[in-house]
Amino acid sequence: HRHVIDLAAFSLEDFTMVLELAQRFRTMPLTGARRLPALQGRMMTSLFFEPSTRTRSSFELAARRLSADVQSFSPASSSLSKGESLLDTARTYVAMGADVLVVRHRCAGVPQQLAEDLDRAGERVAVLNAGDGLHSHPSQGLLDLFTLARHFAPEAPTPEVLRGKRIVIVGDVLHSRVARSNLWALTACGVDVVLCGPPTLVPAEFAAFVAAPPPGQAADPVARRGSVRVSRDLDAALAGADAVMTLRLQKERMREHLLTSLEAYHRAYGLTHRRLAGCGRTIPVLHPGPVNRGVEIAGALLDDPALSLVEEQVRNGIPMRMALLYLLAAEAMAPAEFTAV
Ligand code: CP
Repeated sequence: HRHVIDLAAFSLEDFTMVLELAQRFRTMPLTGARRLPALQGRMMTSLFFEPSTRTRSSFELAARRLSADVQSFSPASSSLSKGESLLDTARTYVAMGADVLVVRHRCAGVPQQLAEDLDRAGERVAVLNAGDGLHSHPSQGLLDLFTLARHFAPEAPTPEVLRGKRIVIVGDVLHSRVARSNLWALTACGVDVVLCGPPTLVPAEFAAFVAAPPPGQAADPVARRGSVRVSRDLDAALAGADAVMTLRLQKERMREHLLTSLEAYHRAYGLTHRRLAGCGRTIPVLHPGPVNRGVEIAGALLDDPALSLVEEQVRNGIPMRMALLYLLAAEAMAPAEFTAV
């Protein structure tokens, strides 16, 4: 892949390769001053038009651990305010030497449009989508896949270990690019996904819609080996589940009255110790963050190291983003330029 825009384009072989590489980076001692030389002389620029704590910081840390230069862009203090276009802004960073642009934007489709425009302009740069509107958040989908695979097989986290598992995604699926990326990744790896939430946040037709192939692509029954269904009953959905991922209520993207009240939402769809105990087995809990404590998940459960994989997700974000940067750079560079790990 020349760019990483969404996970619909990933084959099972792609998922296997990315997980393998992330596992190598995860198990290398790379803290403190230790760096791998793989991307020495290369530059990653982060273009974030929406706030971020985890994604931006871990991409920047990942790039530094591979010895790349890192440039950060802040829209508010940039020449965008003088009317410069997004494309000219991106080309300015390419002219300064950017090899990878990591792009987050509140509008779905911006990273893809930018990648196409840069390709058309003949620029040799890779675009990595760091979250676009409601569409896609591929690095989050991959780090979640990695975290789940490591939970079930810490030494050999391959897509194969997830085949046949049942994973519940509960909450604000409607506004979640993370849910979409997870759906692509999990179903491609043979996971049966249950989407759970009220009809305002998980519309009944949503399972069929998100499980459909992207426009212009035929359905591939071999690649899409898992399944997706919708449930309104969290306790029923959790019975027999192997893991549960809860999502943040994205109040900033909500129209009024999608929820009758936060208390009622928490009673029906909030994760608590008591609710998990009711499902009869010990299952791990994931959340992409940031979290509304006491709404989609109780604070005590979020902080419980025996059940919560939330900090592990954050930790795994670094090696997963190292893997993505490494693979994109390998794609973009002539083999002689590239220092393999
Ligand atoms: N999960 C996630 O994308 O977090 P940030 O918005 O903090 O990057």
